[in-house]
Amino acid sequence: MDIDLRNRFLEGMSRAATFVAVATTDGEAGGRYGVTISSLTSVSADGDHPSLLACIHHLSPAAAAILKNRAFCANLLQEDRQHLSDLFAGRAGAGEHAERFERTPWTPGTLGQPVLAGATASFECRVATAVLWETHHIIVGKVVSVELSDNPAALLYGQRAYRRAVHLPGDE
Ligand SMILES: Cc1cc2nc3c(=O)[nH]c(=O)nc-3n(C[C@H](O)[C@H](O)[C@H](O)COP(=O)(O)O)c2cc1C
Repeated sequence: MDIDLRNRFLEGMSRAATFVAVATTDGEAGGRYGVTISSLTSVSADGDHPSLLACIHHLSPAAAAILKNRAFCANLLQEDRQHLSDLFAGRAGAGEHAERFERTPWTPGTLGQPVLAGATASFECRVATAVLWETHHIIVGKVVSVELSDNPAALLYGQRAYRRAVHLPGDE
């Protein structure tokens, strides 16, 4: 690939502030894994179930586990939980996924998927379909339940740093 094109792509996309989520999964088929993602996207609220998608690197063991378990939970992090983002990105010295779950409170949801205590919203999903596009699995989930915390403010990541959304004056 053209290296300049790749660098300009990365710089351009770094300017797209996104929310930060942890995709978790648990089950006998694939085990318990969790990975930090910024690729969580709403797809539709109006099918037979709401749906969302996540793009996860094919070498992340979480991707293989989600595809085996056929279920996952997308935990949208609260704005004060950057340590959870770092933990599930393997930046806090927790390379082992089991250790990531030992270091944060969580409970199993309706489908048995890990619902993290630091999430502002947790979307439990069954895997509807998945496509491997070059390096990433694009995984579409049918949402079966949504847990909402009392704090609606979500953590953001943009220009290679954690951020929070601010209210612009005049936009009430
Ligand atoms: C803010 C942030 C967003 C990330 N978004 C994604 C993503 O959307 N997809 C992905 O595959 N990895 C993403 N990563 C990288 C993974 O979290 C990281 O590579 C992974 O957790 C490494 O551990 P693992 O291979 O053991 O899962 C992100 C990391 C951070 C810090």
